[in-house]
Amino acid sequence: MKGAIFVGFSAFIEEKYGLAVWVTALDQCELKSNGVYLSTEIYDDNEFETIITKLATLTGSSIESLQRDFGQYFFPQLMSIALKHIEKITNLFEFLIAVDNVIHIEVKKADHLAYTPTLFYDQPKSNVLIMRYVSKRKMCYFAEGLILGAAQHFNQSVSVSQTQCLCKGDDHCLIRLET
Ligand code: HEM
Repeated sequence: MKGAIFVGFSAFIEEKYGLAVWVTALDQCELKSNGVYLSTEIYDDNEFETIITKLATLTGSSIESLQRDFGQYFFPQLMSIALKHIEKITNLFEFLIAVDNVIHIEVKKADHLAYTPTLFYDQPKSNVLIMRYVSKRKMCYFAEGLILGAAQHFNQSVSVSQTQCLCKGDDHCLIRLET
């Protein structure tokens, strides 16, 4: 996983829980990187899982809410690098459809080592969008947080729920959005 995600995650934890919590989590995990992350490097996916599991114990929050809150916190940083690809987009669903069709494609063109989830879309009604999330990483709650961040960006309210989830043994997640 890109170092930028780890760097953003450490900033989020430091801001919300304090530097001591981040340092304690790193001290208690055996990490190949020793917890030193550079934005442009790639690190083992399981380091993120190891750290977030430790942080859930240290903070008393669930892994789901840590991922979701981090996604919402991190969205503006991701959006700032994507704006040039989506200048004409004005609403949440149009934007979310562009994530798989445009944004993540551009991410992988710029960095061949980047790995992003595959997202499929179904829009049964104009105010409902169902996103199928497929990834080796099981970061669907991070995806939920990014979606909440995107809703804030477009000044729209959205309810988010999952009817199937990789974390519960299903082979993909179904993220249902209703505006
Ligand atoms: C609501 C919108 C978005 C959603 C739902 C989404 C979803 C995700 C998720 C869940 C991941 C974690 C990896 C995984 O699950 O396999 C990810 C990774 C990533 N996304 Fe997105 N994303 C969104 C917007 C963006 C934007 C605006 C950018 C800006 C360029 C972006 C760039 C990236 C990058 C660089 C990674 C890390 C790739 C790596 O570690 O190799 N995403 N995305």
